[in-house]
Amino acid sequence: MSAPGPRASAASPDGSAAAVSAGIVGDAAVDPQRFRQVLGHFATGVTVLAGLDAGEPIGFACQAFAALSLDPPLVLCCPAKSSSTWPRLARTGRFCANMLAAEQRDLARRFGVSSPDKFAGVTWSPDPSGLPILAGVLTWASCAVETVHEAGDHYVVIARVTSLGGSTAGDPLLFYRGRFTLSAATDEQSPPEVVDTLLAWPQFADWM
Ligand SMILES: Cc1cc2nc3c(=O)[nH]c(=O)nc-3n(C[C@H](O)[C@H](O)[C@H](O)COP(=O)(O)O)c2cc1C
Repeated sequence: MSAPGPRASAASPDGSAAAVSAGIVGDAAVDPQRFRQVLGHFATGVTVLAGLDAGEPIGFACQAFAALSLDPPLVLCCPAKSSSTWPRLARTGRFCANMLAAEQRDLARRFGVSSPDKFAGVTWSPDPSGLPILAGVLTWASCAVETVHEAGDHYVVIARVTSLGGSTAGDPLLFYRGRFTLSAATDEQSPPEVVDTLLAWPQFADWM
């Protein structure tokens, strides 16, 4: 029995523009480089997941972060199994998701590679439970780990939000196709789009 869904086109196995727009590119043998390239088209913000391990501030950059549930308030994030910081955060069971602002590329780079002291020279303040809030972030959400699922070379972590930062005006740092990028200026006066209110959308049947 063949797998459901779109199959590779024999006429366009190279991923030509026509094939891409027709949505017929893909095969069971997914090339990792192509996987990165294609999935990189999905733009995300950038967080630094930070915590305290025996009083030492630790953290790593994480774009795989999302709001998951409003009731109860849950987020999810996906640390790589190769991360040396994640097991330390997991042991403490808590982290603060710092949401980076457009001008914080340097912080994203610093927290995006393994290094013994990523916090050297970084200004931060404690959240109500002592977790690190990096200076200049747009906002933050502190979380308690609830469940950790294994998924390929990553974990899927579900965590309960325990406290929230305020709302700061500013543009987010975005990551798109392997590069940091900027959003078009946000018009603070315009009404929110439906996607802005996704978790609060009352008619769930409309979109699920
Ligand atoms: C913009 C950006 C986004 C990243 N997103 C993730 C992610 O979602 N999950 C992850 O495990 N690593 C992600 N990384 C890589 C980790 O930050 C990096 O592997 C980690 O800092 C390694 O250090 P560690 O060994 O201290 O964990 C990202 C890096 C950058 C620069």
